[in-house]
Amino acid sequence: MTILVTGGAGFIGSNFVLDWLAGSDEPVVNLDKLTYAGNKENLASLEGDQRHIFVHGDIGDAALISRLLVEHKPRAVLNFAAESHVDRSIHGPEDFIQTNIVGTFHLLESVRAYWNAFSSDTERNDFRFLHVSTDEVYGSLSRTDPAFSETNRYEPNSPYSASKAASDHLVRAYHHTYGLPVLTTNCSNNYGPYHFPEKLIPLCILNALQGKDLPIYGDGQQIRDWLYVKDHCSAIRRVLEGGRLGEVYNVGGWNEKANLDVVNDLCSILDELQPRADGNSYSTQISFVKDRAGHDRRYAIDASKLEKELGWKPAETFETGIRKTVQWYLDNQPWVDNISSGAYKDWVNKQYAV
Ligand code: NAD
Ligand code: TYD
Repeated sequence: MTILVTGGAGFIGSNFVLDWLAGSDEPVVNLDKLTYAGNKENLASLEGDQRHIFVHGDIGDAALISRLLVEHKPRAVLNFAAESHVDRSIHGPEDFIQTNIVGTFHLLESVRAYWNAFSSDTERNDFRFLHVSTDEVYGSLSRTDPAFSETNRYEPNSPYSASKAASDHLVRAYHHTYGLPVLTTNCSNNYGPYHFPEKLIPLCILNALQGKDLPIYGDGQQIRDWLYVKDHCSAIRRVLEGGRLGEVYNVGGWNEKANLDVVNDLCSILDELQPRADGNSYSTQISFVKDRAGHDRRYAIDASKLEKELGWKPAETFETGIRKTVQWYLDNQPWVDNISSGAYKDWVNKQYAV
């Protein structure tokens, strides 16, 4: 048996592949386009491991996907591949439309043809297409609204969330119309090892250590619901094993926090683990900057369906997970050095120049 993972060189996908192969001998075919966010270094510990088959390619390349499906005969396809950064989607939405919508469509078409060609109903019933999505499709909450449940209306506000919403709808339609055995997960904000430092948490850890400003958009009172990436991976495994076909599962850790509090927490941990030479707190580097256009005020996930139906529970609280994360960045300087150089550095410099 084999699974096919897309986007497995990105933040969540690489954590998923590493965790999967740590707990199972079932091989993983890992298809990734290696965009700026894809990093083969995340998978360095799998070098020479026969259970990991890396393929450089695009989910929108139907011929390649069809060939991989026929060659490796996976029992499941897990779609992590996406353009994932809201700020980038505001500056240039086209790649988001291309990968998240058109790419997912081509992937679904190839998978449907593969699934249709199974010779028995048993094979057809046992196959799974698991689509990894986000809570951002539900829009923004006020402080007093209840957390997002699976029945919330889709109200995406950014080009990123709109493109993910469209892909979720395609996945739903392939189940409803063609009977494709799909599962969808909508998860809150992740953090942890291998997180690309354009997102709030890794950006602020690295900026703090490099003596740079810690940019807080607007008043910093926007709320996100944070989940340690390994807990997201365990939820996906659980949904793959036991999720009901065609169902959507929200994934979250009941950890709502305002951005400013998150950054202050990071600073306190860094003050303890690697104090600044001048004895001041890293929090003195916090700098309030112009707000993000259309910035969603609050996300919060109600994960009770996943907890009740499938018995899933996160292993980390925000306090334990964030400490592990800060320690990971301190312990992995070569990874940090490589990711902070080259094309990414050029992009950051251009961002802050305007
Ligand atoms: P990421 O940007 O770190 O990684 C995305 C990966 O997909 C990269 O390796 C990239 O090279 C690859 N990719 C991009 N376009 C591709 C294409 N056309 N074909 C093949 N590969 C392609 O993203 P992430 O944070 O790991 O997110 C993974 C998935 O989880 C996404 O679908 C995202 O919407 C979803 N998600 C992310 C979060 C979060 O907090 N990061 C939360 C909930 C859901
Ligand atoms: P981000 O990590 O980009 O994830 P998302 O936009 O998908 O939630 O941002 C998390 C929150 O932090 C979001 O409210 C925007 C805010 N933010 C900042 O205040 N400063 C920053 O430099 C970044 C990247 C994000």
